[in-house]
Amino acid sequence: MILTITANPLIDRTLHLPSFRLGQIHRTTRISEIAGGKGVNVARMVKILGEPVHAITFAGGGYGNRLKELLEQEGIPNSTIQTLSPTRFQVSILDNSNGLYTDILDQGTIVSNSELDCLLYETENLLKTKRDVQWLILSGSAPQGKADHLYYELIKIAHKYNIKTILDSYGEIFKQGIKAKPYCIKPNLKEAEILHGKELYGKVNILNFINGMLDSGIQLPIVSLGKDGVIAGHKGKYWEVRPPKIKAVNAVGSGDAFVGALAVALTRGHSIPESLQWGVAAGTANAMNSIPCGCTSSQISQILSKVHLREISLK
Ligand SMILES: Nc1ncnc2c1ncn2[C@@H]1O[C@H](COP(=O)(O)OP(=O)(O)OP(=O)(O)O)[C@@H](O)[C@H]1O
Ligand SMILES: [Mg+2]
Repeated sequence: MILTITANPLIDRTLHLPSFRLGQIHRTTRISEIAGGKGVNVARMVKILGEPVHAITFAGGGYGNRLKELLEQEGIPNSTIQTLSPTRFQVSILDNSNGLYTDILDQGTIVSNSELDCLLYETENLLKTKRDVQWLILSGSAPQGKADHLYYELIKIAHKYNIKTILDSYGEIFKQGIKAKPYCIKPNLKEAEILHGKELYGKVNILNFINGMLDSGIQLPIVSLGKDGVIAGHKGKYWEVRPPKIKAVNAVGSGDAFVGALAVALTRGHSIPESLQWGVAAGTANAMNSIPCGCTSSQISQILSKVHLREISLK
């Protein structure tokens, strides 16, 4: 089983418009609503690939209830930790004349110290009681409040139960989380550069960054590069994995699809390079669809054979 943590979930409501012009009145042709947040996307990907999953998220107020309802409608088993502050929402305006999205986010959920403790407690409880947990995946940004050590604490708990972790985040919560030595990290290039403190020009600099992460005790550091795939390292070996050229519809959530499929492939006993190929295929399939992690497993399988893997060296 794969557990996902979403510290900062949201309700994502998309207003579909024939065209969008600032300052005008519009009528929607459709409104769609989906449970959002990076760990929720990962859980959706894992479920699509047919592996048991359980999503842990904060949830507050009416939007929190809706989040739970939407997760249940999708058949994603979940534990929601109640927050006094309401779950945040995002309104996405989709201009169907050009396929462009305009996203508006609210100020965000504030999480109290006792609510943070509840999430730690609930996660530890699940790790203790669900004997088949193999991965704990920690995804996305921190909510408002004193949450910067949340991933650090969760990774420490996972170590106690010998559960492997994947950390995919950014900012201070990511920096702190890394100190607990997750098994795998997957920043995109921009997130890696922020962590590194300077730009990572070209393959050599990315490889040096990955090597630094390996030296610090992270066993599988991966940097994702959008349409250029990923570069990863493990036990002195390095790989570049490139997707085929596609026509992207919406690449939001491609990193989450990558992480979900990577964890599924590793759970099923695939090697690290094979699992990286699965991740890249899922990220690519995601970019061809409008809903984050809403692609199908057959789309992923079709792309898999076109994913190019190359072992590379540090020098
Ligand atoms: N335009 C694209 N064409 C082909 N593959 C893509 C494209 N965009 C993303 N991918 C695939 O998905 C993987 C992850 O994408 P990306 O690096 O954009 O992640 P990300 O920035 O973390 O995304 P998010 O945080 O929105 O989930 C890439 O390594 C690649 O394999
Ligand atoms: Mg990402």
